Amino acid sequence: MSATKKTVPFAGTKEQEMELLKVIQDNKNDKGALMPVLQQAQNIYGYLPREVQVIISNEMDIPLERIYGVVTFYSQFSLYPKGKNRISVCLGTACYVKGSGDLLDKLKELLEIDNGECTPDGKFSLDACRCVGACGLAPVLMVNDDVYGRLKVEDVAGILKKYE
Ligand code: FES
Repeated sequence: MSATKKTVPFAGTKEQEMELLKVIQDNKNDKGALMPVLQQAQNIYGYLPREVQVIISNEMDIPLERIYGVVTFYSQFSLYPKGKNRISVCLGTACYVKGSGDLLDKLKELLEIDNGECTPDGKFSLDACRCVGACGLAPVLMVNDDVYGRLKVEDVAGILKKYE
């Protein structure tokens, strides 16, 4: 696995670990148990950081590289937590043709994170999403439940400021 990127420090509790160990214990002898274990681990922690993958690797005797491969292959799994403010940029067709890709690029630049990641202070996470049903306002982005439409790249910094 490549060096862990700077993100929110892992803050798993003993209770979460006990819960995970029980899940592993319950599934350990099933062939193909890895997917359900990863799904439940993500439910427990909200995401699947390296620390959680290591526990699963050790307890299930599965190489960490394989677990990492599965976690990064399936989009349902996330290596990063969600931020206090969840930003979703719509990359549906209507938004995309009106430049939502540029909004996403600007957010990556301003937040210094990639798509799917969370800032190290936990304030913002950034995701691309499919059509959110507000095509008339394209290009659209959402911060938590707030919808922002007809955006230009220059608007992005001001929107972030509101949530600082
Ligand atoms: S394509 Fe973006 S809201 Fe529909």
